Amino acid sequence: MKGSRGIKSVILLLTLLAFNIVDVKCQLTANFYEKTCPNLFQVVWKQVRIAVMNEMRMGASLLRLHFHDCFVNGCDGSVLLDGSGSEKLALPNQNSLRGFDVVDTIKSAVESSCNGVVSCADILAIAARDSIKLSGGPSYGVLLGRRDGMVANQTGANSNLPSPFDPLDSVISKFGDQGLNLSDVVALQGAHTIGLARCATFSSRLFNFSNTGAPDSTMDTSLVSQLQSLCPVNGDGNKTTALDQNSTDLFDNHYFKNLLNNKGILLSDQELYSSNLANSTTKSIVESYSNDQHLFISNFINSMINMGNINPLTGSSGQIRTNCRVINS
Ligand code: HEM
Ligand SMILES: *[C@@H]1O[C@H](CO)[C@@H](O)[C@H](O)[C@H]1NC(C)=O
Ligand SMILES: *[C@@H]1O[C@H](CO)[C@@H](O)[C@H](O)[C@H]1NC(C)=O
Ligand SMILES: *[C@@H]1O[C@H](CO)[C@@H](O)[C@H](O)[C@H]1NC(C)=O
Ligand SMILES: *[C@@H]1O[C@H](CO)[C@@H](O)[C@H](O)[C@H]1NC(C)=O
Ligand SMILES: *[C@@H]1O[C@H](CO)[C@@H](O)[C@H](O)[C@H]1NC(C)=O
Ligand SMILES: *[C@@H]1O[C@H](CO)[C@@H](O)[C@H](O)[C@H]1NC(C)=O
Repeated sequence: MKGSRGIKSVILLLTLLAFNIVDVKCQLTANFYEKTCPNLFQVVWKQVRIAVMNEMRMGASLLRLHFHDCFVNGCDGSVLLDGSGSEKLALPNQNSLRGFDVVDTIKSAVESSCNGVVSCADILAIAARDSIKLSGGPSYGVLLGRRDGMVANQTGANSNLPSPFDPLDSVISKFGDQGLNLSDVVALQGAHTIGLARCATFSSRLFNFSNTGAPDSTMDTSLVSQLQSLCPVNGDGNKTTALDQNSTDLFDNHYFKNLLNNKGILLSDQELYSSNLANSTTKSIVESYSNDQHLFISNFINSMINMGNINPLTGSSGQIRTNCRVINS
């Protein structure tokens, strides 16, 4: 009697599952492609290594792509789609995001090794992990099983991605919208320990900041002079400088040491330490990361996993794109 009721409930549950009546929250896993693409990690690593050896900055560019993917419709490869509604044309991305050709190269290599099983969204997550490692940072077990989205969301890119001109309260709320907390805000901005920024993204701090008639007082005066000559009024807004002037290509905690010395490049960087709101929110976290590289690294890995978990498409949602730039026909 009891046994048969047990079997009946199992059958009922299986039926509900089969018809998707009970919503199973699919989780990403570390070994998702173990059977279907056993050489995946070697294939991606090889291509990311070639790209970074060819141009050191590419590691930073690939890491940023994963971030800009995840903040718009979740980590679904939507940032890679071409076309008139492309996220590539959104304000935070245009003339700024790079590495798309490298992603194509990685995807081709992956397809040759195991056709039609690995998503573009997962390739971005693995390439970001490998880029951090190749920049002298830590490695970690990246979680996989994302599928690719069917739409780009240009308005979503414009509204969800933080701007370098955003005050700290907007940055905190944009991260909050993605389910990320204060530790994530600070740790993830530590990605600015590598890579470059264009004059257009910080030159408003250099001459007549907020119509004060003077540079931003929270920028070190010798850094101000140096950047004034790189980025004169009406100069080339596409010229670049290092986000971490101390150890540009090395993934370390110097970004946070810079903030303590008023050497953040972007307004949004320095706000983590110097804004009024920082006193009660992010300043103490910046101090702790600047003092303790291990704490930064371990929180950064945790926050990368959190960011990589933003709204993934799993199960039978979305698709596995053949070409990362277009949805399958
Ligand atoms: C408040 C949050 C953030 C803002 C406002 C911001 C803004 C920016 C801006 C303006 C640039 C320079 C782009 C250009 O000059 O074209 C940049 C570069 C970069 N960002 Fe962020 N970012 C933020 C958070 C993050 C996060 C969370 C990551 C990754 C986890 C990240 C990774 C990078 C990297 C690696 C670069 C250098 C890219 C390269 O050299 O190609 N950023 N960011
Ligand atoms: C685009 O992104 C916004 C903001 O996250 C969201 O509200 C909207 O539903 C998205 N649109 C599409 C078509 O995915
Ligand atoms: C943020 O979330 C992490 C878990 O991902 C937790 O360990 C940490 O304490 C939280 N930080 C804050 C400031 O709430
Ligand atoms: C700064 O900009 C404001 C508004 O455009 C202007 O009135 C002021 O004269 C400028 N100050 C300097 C020193 O250029
Ligand atoms: C940067 O270069 C692009 C072309 O590569 C140009 O369209 C854009 O206007 C330039 N941006 C700035 C801020 O000078
Ligand atoms: C980087 O910072 C260290 C101290 O943390 C200092 O000794 C070194 O000179 C700095 N290097 C550059 C290029 O600023
Ligand atoms: C925040 O701290 C700075 C000094 O670090 C101080 O000048 C400022 O008044 C503080 N603001 C608030 C709102 O506590």
